[in-house]
Amino acid sequence: MEMATSVIEHKETRKNTATFKNTSEKKTKISVHNLNLFYGEKQALFDVSINIKEKEVTALIGPSGCGKSTFLRTLNRMNDLIDGVNINGKIVIDGEDIYDSNDVIKLRTKVGMVFQKPNLFPMSIFDNVAYGPRMQGIKNRAELNRIVEESLRGAAIWDEVKDRLKSSALGLSGGQQQRVCIARAIAMKPDVILMDEPTSALDPISTLKVEELIAAMKNNFTIVIVTHNMQQAARVSDKTAFFLNGEIIEFDETSKIFSMPSDQRTEDYVTGRFG
Ligand SMILES: Nc1ncnc2c1ncn2[C@@H]1O[C@H](COP(=O)(O)OP(=O)(O)OP(=O)(O)O)[C@@H](O)[C@H]1O
Ligand SMILES: [Mg+2]
Repeated sequence: MEMATSVIEHKETRKNTATFKNTSEKKTKISVHNLNLFYGEKQALFDVSINIKEKEVTALIGPSGCGKSTFLRTLNRMNDLIDGVNINGKIVIDGEDIYDSNDVIKLRTKVGMVFQKPNLFPMSIFDNVAYGPRMQGIKNRAELNRIVEESLRGAAIWDEVKDRLKSSALGLSGGQQQRVCIARAIAMKPDVILMDEPTSALDPISTLKVEELIAAMKNNFTIVIVTHNMQQAARVSDKTAFFLNGEIIEFDETSKIFSMPSDQRTEDYVTGRFG
């Protein structure tokens, strides 16, 4: 009896230490409070609240149509581009309410995005990566060279493209194009990178390369990634949020979501019983 108690106590202590460690080390980068989003009459997000930590990978999972992309787009106000979208609630990034500020350009510089399909411009690899910095007014050739090389290295694609920087980016394979898209995002020096199913159009080898890249990138960026691939979420993310019908059902350490989720609906989803 005494033994059992001491084992439990020991476990409790360990658990508390772990919790303390996590919350004290990482600071909250994005905090979302009671976010509701409507497409016209139709509500797509219901009272979504979540705290996303700095320099972690947060995965968003859930069945098709549950609001993952909609939620991701609220984080850099991409939904502003869609007619009839109404939002209430609050999204705070680095202490600033992003819907209070009018500087959407600055927000999108700070919070970059990578889409499902590579969307490079029909221009050279170099010009694709230099595009954003040039828009920001950087004209110095040496500085542009440095930014392009650094970004392509950061996206683990430099060695594959360094001898063809002047060639059309559209001549690259899909997996290479997606890594150049990531380089293009990195070139803007964002703090946060949003990725909406970045590997769903890629073959398994390119997918692994992008996954390795994401794991390496979290030392420098806060990453939020939508994925339909459970193994991918388990491999790349620190935290996972499970969405269902526009609500976050559960948000926790990825290891917990995949091994012992608290909610039956999460368990059903991660074990493939629905969705
Ligand atoms: N532009 C839009 N206008 C109206 N309704 C929309 C629009 N975009 C999304 N919706 C609706 O909002 C809900 C959430 O869609 P969303 O694209 O966010 O889902 P998702 O979780 O990303 O799905 P998937 O896994 O298929 O990409 C769906 O019911 C969808 O039909
Ligand atoms: Mg989507």
